Amino acid sequence: MALLSPSILSSDFTDLKSQIRILELGNSDWIHLDIMDGNFVPNITFGPLIVDAINKITDLPLDTHLMISKPDDFLEEFSKAGSDIITVHQEAVVHLHRTIMKIKSLGVKAGVSINPSTPVVTLQDILEEVDLVLVMSVNPGFGGQKFINNSLKKISDLKNLKEKNNYKFLIEVDGGIDVDNVYSVLEAGADVIVAGAAIFKSVNPVQKVAELKNLIQNFSR
Ligand code: DX5
Ligand code: ZN
Repeated sequence: MALLSPSILSSDFTDLKSQIRILELGNSDWIHLDIMDGNFVPNITFGPLIVDAINKITDLPLDTHLMISKPDDFLEEFSKAGSDIITVHQEAVVHLHRTIMKIKSLGVKAGVSINPSTPVVTLQDILEEVDLVLVMSVNPGFGGQKFINNSLKKISDLKNLKEKNNYKFLIEVDGGIDVDNVYSVLEAGADVIVAGAAIFKSVNPVQKVAELKNLIQNFSR
């Protein structure tokens, strides 16, 4: 069954504890943490300090998405802060195999992410090693953007590669997902759904989390 990993990027940062409770109430599976350095992406968010603070107030697995230029320099800090999964961008790392092995050596699940214009084929020689592939369905840096439809083909290409080679990685999809398109993302092959603005910019975030979770749970290929 697929999982829901809500992103807190669009949440109310003046009251983070209550926002995390909303996700727990709605039976979220993970919490997606968008780390941005203003260099790899044109926005700056937060670092290990906030990840550590969140880790202290929830037992939900922390799905840490590093949209930063030099992720190798921060793997240990994000691991110590409590990340259960650390995902780096293929576009930000020169020695991706070494980086993935380093994340795994820290006892953390290792993910790799590709931007909308990065072909799936660039990952072919690392797919055997990763625990997760994060397909960006928006250009990284901001919440509330429109889903890029070409992502569906990338997701199904990845799913075919995974099934053909009996790989174990989960396919996570991130950006512009809401109740109106979540089925097509699942249909294409997603195992984990990230949603941010769909939840925190909705009239009733608790209800929206539950709605998304329900749709995901009831989906079957
Ligand atoms: C964008 C982030 C996404 C984003 C998702 O760079 O990686 O996780 O927060 O947010 P929505 O669901 O609002 O597109
Ligand atoms: Zn993200």
